[in-house]
Amino acid sequence: MLDRTKAAVVITSAIFSRKKGGNMDRRTFLKSAGIGTLALGVVANTFAADKYFPSKADQGLFENINRVTDQSSKTPLEKSHAPVITAPKTVIAGTPFNVEVSVGEVVHAMGPTHWIESIELNIGNEPAGRIDFQSNGYIKPKATFLIVVPKEAAPSGKVTLIAHQRCNLHGYWEGSLDITVT
Ligand SMILES: [Fe+2]
Repeated sequence: MLDRTKAAVVITSAIFSRKKGGNMDRRTFLKSAGIGTLALGVVANTFAADKYFPSKADQGLFENINRVTDQSSKTPLEKSHAPVITAPKTVIAGTPFNVEVSVGEVVHAMGPTHWIESIELNIGNEPAGRIDFQSNGYIKPKATFLIVVPKEAAPSGKVTLIAHQRCNLHGYWEGSLDITVT
């Protein structure tokens, strides 16, 4: 990526190096102005690219699935990124029920440079579904899934709901909730 400071130095140097030689004729001035305008355009495009394709992602958070470390003392990052699952404590096998997934307990912002890209829900090891979000701010990072757990999916009478979300700057996060299936 173009280094903005270096680009600005190049523009300034180009203009001032023309001045050092003495009086600048009209043609020389127009050439310098053209180079300067072109270079400024490159810098402006670099700023625009940085706005829509941010380079400030925390790569460390993309290497593993992130979870809350201590439920009794969550960090601000955990509060706004760990998926929170809301579902009945007990459900009846074969009967539909709602599962709401929110990112997170402090709802994550949605904007052009920082947003939640998707939410996924698994029933145990089985993927149940996924919702993708746009960054235009029209929607909050919450999703409600209508779920049916068949008896054979919960032979022990318990099942774990597992939610994943992906933040464009802060990586993959997981939250889970155990429910009873009767
Ligand atoms: Fe984030």
